[in-house]
Amino acid sequence: MLLPEDDRFKIQLEGWLRSRHAFILLAASRGKNGFGTGTTPLRKEAEKKDILIGSGAINPAYLNDTQFATVLAQQFNSLSPENELKWNFIHPAADHYNWEPTDRLVDFAECNKMVVKGHGLISSCCNPDYLVNITDPALFRAAMTSHFEAIMHRYAGKMDRWDVVTEALATQGGGLQENDFYKVLGPNYIAEAFRIARAADADAKLFINENMVESLPGKRQELYDLVSGLVADNVPIDGVALQMHITEVPVVPGVITQMVSDYYALGLEVTIAELDVHTLNATLQTQIYGDVVDEALRAGITDISVWGFTDKHAYTWLPGAKPLMFNETYHAKGAFYAVHAALEDLVSAH
Ligand code: XIL
Repeated sequence: MLLPEDDRFKIQLEGWLRSRHAFILLAASRGKNGFGTGTTPLRKEAEKKDILIGSGAINPAYLNDTQFATVLAQQFNSLSPENELKWNFIHPAADHYNWEPTDRLVDFAECNKMVVKGHGLISSCCNPDYLVNITDPALFRAAMTSHFEAIMHRYAGKMDRWDVVTEALATQGGGLQENDFYKVLGPNYIAEAFRIARAADADAKLFINENMVESLPGKRQELYDLVSGLVADNVPIDGVALQMHITEVPVVPGVITQMVSDYYALGLEVTIAELDVHTLNATLQTQIYGDVVDEALRAGITDISVWGFTDKHAYTWLPGAKPLMFNETYHAKGAFYAVHAALEDLVSAH
C-alpha cells in the first residue's frame, strides 16, 4: 500500500524510536574497537571471512541490561535463544503460543544485523502434559506438525537455521534416548521431525544437535551411523551441530577435522553450536577455546556459537566454573583473545 510521504516518514520514525536502543547499539558495534577489549570485535574479524560467530543461550530478559545488549550486538553476528523456543516455553497450552520473548530476540537481531538460529523444536526436556499425554501416533504426529508449522512459519526468513532434534542419543552413548517423541513414534521420530521441518520451511538449514561426541568415540560413531542412515533414507538434513560443552579435558587434536571431513563426504555441514569450557583452570580454558576454534576454522567450519558469552549468565554443572569468554562484569577473558586470534589468523574460509 502506498502512503503519502508524510505518513510513511511518521511510521518510519515511530519504528526508529521504538527500537532506538537497538540502533544505538548498532552504531556502537560499528566502532573500530569492541567496547573495552582493546581490539576489534569478533564479528568484524569473522565477517571478513564469511563466518558466523554467534552466542546461544540468549534469554531475552537479559537484553534489559544495556551492557549485555551492547556486548552481544558488538561481538556477535548470530544469536539463538536459551529456552524460549522449547515446547513448554513457546507453546505452554495447546491453544496458546507465547511469542513475545522470541519476537523480541528476533527484533533485536534484525536491528543489529545479526542472524538467528532456532533452537529447541525437539529437545530432551520441557514438553507439556497436553503433548506427552497423547498416546496415539497419528494424533501425536499431528500435534508435532502443527507446532513446527506455527513456529517455523512465524519465523520464516527470520531464522535461517534450526536445531530440529537435540540430544537424540543417550548422554553417554548406547542408543537413542527414549524421550517423549521416541515413546510414541519410535526411532523414526527423528526422520519425521526433519521431514515436517523441511515442509514447514524449505529455506532454513536443518541440523541435528548432539553433545559429547567430540570426547566419546563410541557416541561419535553412533551419531555418524544415525546421520548417515538419515541421509541414505533421503531425510532432509543439512548438518550436524556439535554442542561442545567441554569440561576440563581438551578435545583430542584431529577429532574435529575428522568429523568435518566425514560429514562433508555425506554432503553435510558441521557447526559448533554451544561452545563453552567448564574448568577452574583459566589457562586451560583459554587454551581449549583457542584450540577448538582454531581447528574448527581450519577444518572449514563457518558457523561457531558459544552457549552464552558472560559468566554473569552462565549455565554450568561444575560448581565455581566460569565457562564463558567475558567475566561477570563484561571484561574480555583469555578465552576471548584466543578466539579472536584464531579468527584473525585464519587465512580464508574454505
Ligand atoms: C540448557 C539451558 O541453558 C538451561 O537454562 C536449562 O535449564 C537447561 O537447558 N544443550 C542444549 C541446551 O541444547 O538446550 C541446554 O540448555 C544446554 C545443553
